[in-house]
Amino acid sequence: MAGLTPEQLSVFYTNGFLVIPNFLSASEVSSLLSTAHDLLNSFDIASHPLTRFTTGDSQDANNAKHVGDDYFLSSGDKIHFFFEPDAFTTPDPASEPSAKPTLKRDKARSINKIGHALHALSPPFTAVTLSERNRAIARSLGFKDPRVLQSMLICKQPSFGAAVPPHLDSEFLYTDPPSAVGWWIALEDANKDNGTLGFWRGSHKTRRVTRRFVRKENGEGTEFVEWNGAGLPRGMETNEKEDLYQPRDEDFELVDVPAGSLVLIHGNVLHTSERNTGDKSRFAYTFHVIEGADGWSYDEKNWLQPPKGGEFTKLYGDGK
Ligand code: FE2
Repeated sequence: MAGLTPEQLSVFYTNGFLVIPNFLSASEVSSLLSTAHDLLNSFDIASHPLTRFTTGDSQDANNAKHVGDDYFLSSGDKIHFFFEPDAFTTPDPASEPSAKPTLKRDKARSINKIGHALHALSPPFTAVTLSERNRAIARSLGFKDPRVLQSMLICKQPSFGAAVPPHLDSEFLYTDPPSAVGWWIALEDANKDNGTLGFWRGSHKTRRVTRRFVRKENGEGTEFVEWNGAGLPRGMETNEKEDLYQPRDEDFELVDVPAGSLVLIHGNVLHTSERNTGDKSRFAYTFHVIEGADGWSYDEKNWLQPPKGGEFTKLYGDGK
């Protein structure tokens, strides 16, 4: 199967992202959407840690935070559900010390994302991830032993789907040297009205990884830490001084992504998305690939770690 054309590779390495329209068929898109809605409608909210949050008692709040952190940190080989930050009403702790936050909407309309092992645990998502065409794309990009290490269904709910601040994906999924590439597939049309992706075109050429999202040393939760190690992928190292320019909103180019299109995202390109203030959701399926070959090491401080005794899913293996 053909991978990326020379023209597509040129666009990807010039801009740091590449849109491929009609990547999924209409039936693949509807299969993923119906699977996503089934998951959203059927997950057990009663046992979800965030629904057990209470306020007013710091002991309770700390316990709830810890449970929430564990739920996130243990999600690498599971299908977990993460709420929108604004999904809950927050009772006034002064007047209602034991009141629990309650959902403002139906639970299926309250989830920000589902992650992080859809590619391993949900057959419709596995089928569009561990595919021949994705192997061919990975070969085009020069991957020797690509590993799919996480996958997410992003909901970007209407009217309150949270913004994602500017970041590099390699800050979250660091290998030494950096190697991450994101596959981002629109399952619904994404545009300026519902918080589509915004890219700072070409920023991957100079934007080093200078911070990383890691597990805290005490094992409780996550944090960003400064990073002075390898900041750019092999072959892209530059002697140019570090680019300290702080981008403004107008530096980000909003990209229209029709449903079924694939956006390939370079791990060093600065990108963002705004809050969804529109009345349409913006479902997307995204997964990330890193280089697993000798010469690239996966860092043990990364928030996401391979399952105990296991390894991240091989894209070139049978992967099942
Ligand atoms: Fe990202």
